[in-house]
Amino acid sequence: MKENYNEKLITAEIAATKIKSGDRVLLGHAVAEPSALINEIVDKHDNYKNVELVHLVYLGNSDYLKYPESFIDNSLFMGAGQRKYYADGVVNFTPCFFNEVPKMLDEEYLPVDVFAFQCAPPDENGYINVGVSADYGLAAIKKAKMVIAELNPQMPRTAGDGNSIHVSEIDYMFEVDRPLFEIGETKIGDIERQIGAHIAKLIPDGATLQLGIGSIPDAILEFLKDKKDLGIHTEMLSDGIVDLVRSGAITGNAKNTHKGKIVTTFIMGTKKLYDFCNNNPDVEVYGVDYTNNPYVIAQNDNMISVNACIQVDLMGQVIADNIGLKQFSGVGGQVDFVRGANMSKGGKAIIAMASTAARGTISKIVPFLDHGGAVTTSRFDVSYIVTEYGVAELRGKTLKQRARALINIAHPDFREELEKEFEVRFKEKL
Ligand code: COA
Repeated sequence: MKENYNEKLITAEIAATKIKSGDRVLLGHAVAEPSALINEIVDKHDNYKNVELVHLVYLGNSDYLKYPESFIDNSLFMGAGQRKYYADGVVNFTPCFFNEVPKMLDEEYLPVDVFAFQCAPPDENGYINVGVSADYGLAAIKKAKMVIAELNPQMPRTAGDGNSIHVSEIDYMFEVDRPLFEIGETKIGDIERQIGAHIAKLIPDGATLQLGIGSIPDAILEFLKDKKDLGIHTEMLSDGIVDLVRSGAITGNAKNTHKGKIVTTFIMGTKKLYDFCNNNPDVEVYGVDYTNNPYVIAQNDNMISVNACIQVDLMGQVIADNIGLKQFSGVGGQVDFVRGANMSKGGKAIIAMASTAARGTISKIVPFLDHGGAVTTSRFDVSYIVTEYGVAELRGKTLKQRARALINIAHPDFREELEKEFEVRFKEKL
């Protein structure tokens, strides 16, 4: 193994020279982003022309967008770094469900020349570990023409099928030693707490949970401390679950699949979470084609998914990834989990939001979606919408019943306007 290792071990500087103009480079996801390599190629941007950088959640320095001649952005999910440059026309968005990224690589809808990622260094038998991100990385290692690994001893080693990969499958490696990206705790205010309390009432003991990103999912955790035998089957694992495991609320004992285990496809939080996941056999990290497959999700009874959104119209059409014509994020696994939860026996797909945005000046419940806005979760998939004013259960309801339920949970300052539209549309008073 040592021979194999030494042969492939280079420096970040040399690794950067392996990337050629015109290459399509897929970057490791979120905390597994190969930031040392990205910094190298950005520093030497003059050496590159039309290198396409493909990514989902991207946490690092987005300076590559300053050099559009050298680098072409291809965001499958947009973050704050890309949003900053959106108005300049240099950010490209590819709509796709998170669960289908491995298939897009495999069947070459999105063929990649290079996959570059951060991982844990080889163990004594020569196996690196993908750590915090199995998602599309496992598929990319098999499919990319060239694989470059940034070896970081601070990356946790995680359990999950195929997470340990022999160095013979990697073309080039270089060593770094630095703390992983950390996403600090979110700010939870009164509105988030009220929403969290409504959602907690929809979660029975023994439920399996998917909690999305942001302050609302985090606010729910406060209300789950007294629940029993909760399980986790999620896309992203964040800090909040650590305390729930320690308090005994999460045991995974009621799950039908992976009983007793926490299942996720990526991990993003603080060092507390990374330490908890390191060599922890109870945390399993799988490829996203498995975790986010709605049929896999649905195997657990009482599967509850909780995700956030930006806008909902009176029919229950949900926008979660754009504001008008402006791309804001991406679908991620929202629809994957909405569908899985809807299919699960006793499952509930919950979409939650504050009733207003922009310090109370805009209602998130609207008669019509914003001009140019694109639906994320359709009215055929939607189930529960929750605001600080309560819960609107839309499944099995007519358009008229849906509109009534949604107006009841809109902010009181905007109800009159919504009621007027109700009367025009349904020819009766609310
Ligand atoms: N009209 C105009 N602006 C709006 C708006 C609306 N209806 N709703 C939100 N905004 C603005 C907010 O004011 C805020 O602006 P600011 O950044 O200038 O303060 C911004 O949009 C973000 O809104 P916020 O509600 O704070 O976002 P968030 O960080 O809680 O994220 C989503 C919410 C919906 C964007 C995020 O959950 C997402 O991207 N979801 C899609 C992916 C997904 O659900 N994946 C599955 C789970 S991992």
